[in-house]
Amino acid sequence: MPTEQLIQRSQQEQPAKSEKNTINSVAKAFGSACKSYDLVARLQRYSGRKLLSYLPDATRSTVLDLGCGTGFFADTLADNYQTVCALDISKEMLNFSKTNRSAKIHWLNADIQNLPIKDNSVDIVYSNLAIQWCEPLTDTFVEIKRVLKPGGIFIFSTLLDGTLAELKSSWQKVDNDQHVIDFNSLAIVEQAVTDAQLSINELQQSAITLDYDNVYHLAKELKGLGANHLPRKSKKGLAGKAGWQNMSNAYDVYKDSAGNYPATYQLCIGVVVKS
Ligand SMILES: C[S@@+](CC[C@H](N)C(=O)[O-])C[C@H]1O[C@@H](n2cnc3c(N)ncnc32)[C@H](O)[C@@H]1O
Repeated sequence: MPTEQLIQRSQQEQPAKSEKNTINSVAKAFGSACKSYDLVARLQRYSGRKLLSYLPDATRSTVLDLGCGTGFFADTLADNYQTVCALDISKEMLNFSKTNRSAKIHWLNADIQNLPIKDNSVDIVYSNLAIQWCEPLTDTFVEIKRVLKPGGIFIFSTLLDGTLAELKSSWQKVDNDQHVIDFNSLAIVEQAVTDAQLSINELQQSAITLDYDNVYHLAKELKGLGANHLPRKSKKGLAGKAGWQNMSNAYDVYKDSAGNYPATYQLCIGVVVKS
């Protein structure tokens, strides 16, 4: 299908001002990471590859990659499917992607929660580690369902409660500020899918542990990914040298015998269908 037939030019209702500020801050954080992202996206590569194994073998399909970032997986989708649209809230991410990925991909700068895509027009929606930035989750699933054709499939990954638990707990020993974003539980994701009246083919949680040299390595990786926007953080800027040192000391309880600092990611993989 030509991509022009997918695009719905007139956007729906615009988000409220407070939501818009959050969306802009998320876009800014990811945008500033567009050049470092691919160098540090260890978890994202693992998770995105896992999602690829759920893709149906239907090359003529129209595919939408939501929160495509640097377009690494949009490129793979373009190798396997006829029509691929890749969408991201960050213009900088998209500018980077456009110059580095398949010329066949149609790029869209838009919000997952307000898709400029026609109803019932997409066969497959793929989204790797992006919807944890989208609230409320039920509205996100409802919007994705709107653009899927009947029988269409949404293959996604997101992060769940317990992600970066070591970092969260270490900061809690230092102050009451937000240092890790709030993640949903698997039960909440399941409820949101059900409320959106999508059928679940697969919904699973697994814990992935990555090792870091120290807490500064972990913080650098999160910044390099652009995953450092904290909507509820009250004190802007860094927590100060003493705060970081105290947090690092608290993190020592998790250090393994080889001296690595582990960080746990609770990965959710979902495959849901519009019946
Ligand atoms: C962790 S990156 C994942 C990128 C890519 N999917 C991958 O596998 O490498 C999350 C991406 O989602 C995008 N994003 C976050 N919230 C979004 C929203 N509401 N609408 C569109 N994109 C969004 C960010 O700009 C970022 O590029």
